[in-house]
Amino acid sequence: MFVSPGELRLPFDSRTIFGREGPLIFEIGFGNGWFLEQLARADPSANVLGAETSASSVHRAYRRLSRARLDNVRMFKGDAVFLTRFVLRSGSIDTVYVNYPDPWPRRKHRGRRLLSADFLQLLADRLKPSGKVVLTTDHAEYFQFARDQAAKSTVFSELVATPPSQFLETRYAKKWRRQGKAIYHAVLTSRGHVADPVPDIGGNNMQHALLSGDLGTVGSMPPGVYRKQDAYVIVMNHLLDEANEGMVFAVHVEEHGLKQDILIEAVPREHGIFVGVRRFGSPMATRGVGEALRIVVDWLESRGLEVRDRWYRDDQPR
Ligand SMILES: C[S@@+](CC[C@H](N)C(=O)[O-])C[C@H]1O[C@@H](n2cnc3c(N)ncnc32)[C@H](O)[C@@H]1O
Repeated sequence: MFVSPGELRLPFDSRTIFGREGPLIFEIGFGNGWFLEQLARADPSANVLGAETSASSVHRAYRRLSRARLDNVRMFKGDAVFLTRFVLRSGSIDTVYVNYPDPWPRRKHRGRRLLSADFLQLLADRLKPSGKVVLTTDHAEYFQFARDQAAKSTVFSELVATPPSQFLETRYAKKWRRQGKAIYHAVLTSRGHVADPVPDIGGNNMQHALLSGDLGTVGSMPPGVYRKQDAYVIVMNHLLDEANEGMVFAVHVEEHGLKQDILIEAVPREHGIFVGVRRFGSPMATRGVGEALRIVVDWLESRGLEVRDRWYRDDQPR
């Protein structure tokens, strides 16, 4: 039921996630999953994808959707902006729903608002021609902000309408209605787009290398910052992995706005010392991650280990 970008061949392919083609519907900030369930029930032919950052909300939605036994819905626990930028394909989404987004009312927090002109332009690239962003909110000022941002993006036409009944039944909708608040609803229709392609962050094969020698003699790798093409690699520290008689390096990688904290392990195996990215935190096998691995392998080599085999991106030996 969950989408894990670290295990996907990018960009996103509906067939590998849902096992079939179908209209792709994307809900951002699905909260307790009530609306996500309605979307999946309303159109069994649709592939329904939701993104939510709050762990407790994802947990509630997971319980709800497990009980519902729907096979056309998937959840991503994390930032919808990340998912849109790095995972979803250009021209792939039919409709995006945003119900009661966090309004961030304080002036100094405005930059955190989801529906900025930049994000709307990105959504327009990922939407199919004439695809829609459907916004419902209780917050008059946010509503005006989003409409202004849509106008600024220049790629949406808008229709302000009375919200259909299902938009009045989400957890937050009920809360605001109990307080007597008005509810605002707009349908933004894409009318072209500024190309904003998925950044090229590299291949999908997790890189690794095989070394020989004695890990016990290499000493400590000093922390350091490396700039490699489009990536920053920051080697923070390393730990001894006593259970496996190996080492684990904590590394931060940034590329095209994508930030990943990864663990690179060097552990003795039957055929030599395996150096690769530990599957902790579901890392994505990007070019920057490959560079991080190469930095660690080069350092181990400089400390007297012999590199017997190294495979980087796409299994091409360098
Ligand atoms: C006010 S709640 C509304 C929840 C739900 N849509 C409803 O109507 O009951 C806003 C939700 O958006 C989520 N959220 C905020 N920013 C997000 C982002 N960038 N990606 C995914 N979810 C986000 C929050 O965690 C929160 O659950």
